[in-house]
Amino acid sequence: MAEVIVALDVPNGAAALALVDRLPGVRWVKVGSVVMTREGPELVRELVGRSIRVFLDLKWHDIPSTVAEAVAGARELGVAMATVHTAGGAAMMAAGAAAGGKDLALVGVTVLTSHDAASYGRAVGRSDVDLGEEVVRLAGEVSRAGLAGVVCSPREVARVRARLGPGALIVVPGIRRRSDAAGDQVRVATAAEAAGAGATHLVVGRPVVQAADPAAAFREFLEEAQCAAS
Ligand code: C5P
Repeated sequence: MAEVIVALDVPNGAAALALVDRLPGVRWVKVGSVVMTREGPELVRELVGRSIRVFLDLKWHDIPSTVAEAVAGARELGVAMATVHTAGGAAMMAAGAAAGGKDLALVGVTVLTSHDAASYGRAVGRSDVDLGEEVVRLAGEVSRAGLAGVVCSPREVARVRARLGPGALIVVPGIRRRSDAAGDQVRVATAAEAAGAGATHLVVGRPVVQAADPAAAFREFLEEAQCAAS
């Protein structure tokens, strides 16, 4: 069964906590850079105090010692999972993984879903990039550096699972029901498809956050994610 992580993509901490109050049974939430910048660690403490697991998605990409200190700070706050950019390199990822220890699972962001092959190629100075191959290559770097897993799009889940084997975490945004608008996500899949391909954590934002009845929408994603395992 894949876990469903609700992305708290709301303007402030009060709205984040109000949303959580409307989602009975929510086990995981994602705190991203917008709400973290506005509200800081107090929001994370409040969520952890409610026994909710926090995925802190700040996509760190810095020198190894700085990333290690940031990961240690997140671990002390009670964060359960956090992100670094694989582009930060093996030493940075290894330092972050060591700082996370057993309590914080650190996962590597591979290729941002906002990139296409041309824009990614420009960013890394190559003209011949196959994004699927690139994600699988970066997943290998993640594994060698000792991270717990990766963030990737629904399109790459099956190949990443084959590359990493069982046990690795695969966190997948871009999850939609068939009736949902994709919005600005290009590479989307249903919860059942992503979980069936090997995802362990499904990140859902707007289809729950902007639903007229967020609790009903959340339940639908949970049921779909669970069905995929049976
Ligand atoms: O609203 P939606 O379901 O598209 O939200 C997906 C969430 O996952 C957003 O918070 C977005 O920032 C995040 N995310 C993503 N693609 C990534 C990493 C994170 O969409 N590669």
